[in-house]
Amino acid sequence: MSRECEFLVVGGGIAGVSCVESLVICRPNASVLLLTESSVVKSVTNLVPVARYLHKFDVREQDVSEMGASFETLVDQLDHINSSEHFIRTKAGVEVKYRYLCLCTGGTPKLFSGQVKDPLVIGIRDTDSVLQLQRKLATAKDIMILGNGGIASELAYELKEVNVHWVVKDSHISATFVDPGAAEFFHIAMNEVNEQDSSPVTAIKRMRYSEVLPKEQTSNHGAALGPDWHRTFDLSGAGERGAKRLPKIYYKSRVHSVQNLADNAGVIVNLEHEDGSFEQLTCDFIVSATGVLPNTHYTCDSPLKYSADGGISVDEMMRTNLVDVFAAGDVCTANWPAAMHWFQMRLWTQARQMGSMAGRSMAAASEGESVYQDFCFELFGHVTKLFGYPVVLLGRFNGQDLGRDYDILVRCTRNKEYIKFVLQNNRLRGAMLIGNSDLAETCENLILNGIDLEPYGNDILNPDIDIEDYFD
Ligand SMILES: Cc1cc2nc3c(=O)[nH]c(=O)nc-3n(C[C@H](O)[C@H](O)[C@H](O)COP(=O)(O)OP(=O)(O)OC[C@H]3O[C@@H](n4cnc5c(N)ncnc54)[C@H](O)[C@@H]3O)c2cc1C
Ligand SMILES: *[C@@H]1O[C@H](CO)[C@@H](O)[C@H](O)[C@H]1NC(C)=O
Ligand SMILES: *[C@@H]1O[C@H](CO)[C@@H](O)[C@H](O)[C@H]1NC(C)=O
Repeated sequence: MSRECEFLVVGGGIAGVSCVESLVICRPNASVLLLTESSVVKSVTNLVPVARYLHKFDVREQDVSEMGASFETLVDQLDHINSSEHFIRTKAGVEVKYRYLCLCTGGTPKLFSGQVKDPLVIGIRDTDSVLQLQRKLATAKDIMILGNGGIASELAYELKEVNVHWVVKDSHISATFVDPGAAEFFHIAMNEVNEQDSSPVTAIKRMRYSEVLPKEQTSNHGAALGPDWHRTFDLSGAGERGAKRLPKIYYKSRVHSVQNLADNAGVIVNLEHEDGSFEQLTCDFIVSATGVLPNTHYTCDSPLKYSADGGISVDEMMRTNLVDVFAAGDVCTANWPAAMHWFQMRLWTQARQMGSMAGRSMAAASEGESVYQDFCFELFGHVTKLFGYPVVLLGRFNGQDLGRDYDILVRCTRNKEYIKFVLQNNRLRGAMLIGNSDLAETCENLILNGIDLEPYGNDILNPDIDIEDYFD
């Protein structure tokens, strides 16, 4: 069997679908084929601007058959690429000739210590893995969560009727997105969620990098948290009905070794703490939410160039090293000289941006034209929700790659907002806005314009002064 198309896009995630959507817009009369191994595809919906370059949106899952008729679809798995003769072969043996190819095959969960497909280790990745988790939870009393990103954080507080042992390598929770101060803000917010007293007190503080020492937490209190993906699933264990136990957090710890009990009845985990001491825990199973590895289980006639993190290396036009082969989303690694305020993070936001960029770039190549790289790659931006609070992250919001030479200015109002500016040489380099997104556009401008903020001192975060007035 064989087929032919001008544009072939592989992968039905945000990157692949965004790529197809922009191809259909740029080249309405061209034949576009979306090849995806799963009949459930993801797309962006309810796109709302939060600032000039920043959007929030929802991710919708739907069946490929419900997609529009402006392009074709094929449910099958990419198996081999022959880039010199411009065709691919699928697992079912279908050959597809293409003129331009885009690989958007995403990532698979990284499991610790290379344990693949161990039935007692679940990697949370997609709907299927959440369903698998749900089935296993039905009989579980003790589970362990590994990882410190958004997924692990939400899971740790969302699981009910089960003892959660949460192992994080850092000294504070949710480290992928927030700093120790913000983690404490969430911690307090969660502890007080049921208390009436909440006369908010605002504090503003400026710190040198070296003063930003992590604050240890002793206990944690969970409430019904997290608005997103886990909402549609009942994540309850086999414990007492209605029981909500607090996750027990093991800071600065890692799994040293794991031993399976007979008949897969559970696992004995040997944890290693930072001080070199060990602790043994028995649990029903382990949930690994420690990030993804680019998914490239296909062969190619000549070798694709990979980056050190395993992603397919792409340039600013999303081109790989192979002629007419592009890549976008979690599967690729940005290998262009990054702009001052941008870095790669494997998120929906960037999957969408890279997918659209790849589509525009392929369309331009097919017409012998050239395009500029999209402006979104000038400034890192991400909008999300953590523990029910809106979160906006801009630029080098955690001082990423700034070394030790920066200041942090924080305004924190208990149970209301946590606003952090990262300043270097009195210029805004990044911002974290939790609970209050009003400053997003001002921050975009300040970061991009590099205005010297020294004359304003700490007033830039004074709630009684409208800083937008300063800079309009
Ligand atoms: C549980 C969970 C929650 C998350 N929450 C957030 C969040 O709140 N905010 C956020 O920004 N990011 C979040 N992320 C990260 C985000 O999901 C990813 O960055 C994003 O989905 C990447 O999109 P993608 O299109 O590159 O890859 P994917 O979404 O992984 O899509 C890859 C597609 O390729 C298909 N495919 C793979 N191999 C082949 C093959 N050989 N042949 C054919 N098809 C193939 C797959 O079936 C899939 O459809 C979350 C991730 C997880 C796992
Ligand atoms: C696309 O096709 C339609 C109908 O065949 C034609 O009218 C239109 O000009 C074409 N558009 C482009 C951009 O080629
Ligand atoms: C595929 O690519 C290789 C190397 O570029 C080439 O030698 C081969 O003949 C191609 N065709 C097929 C059908 O494998």
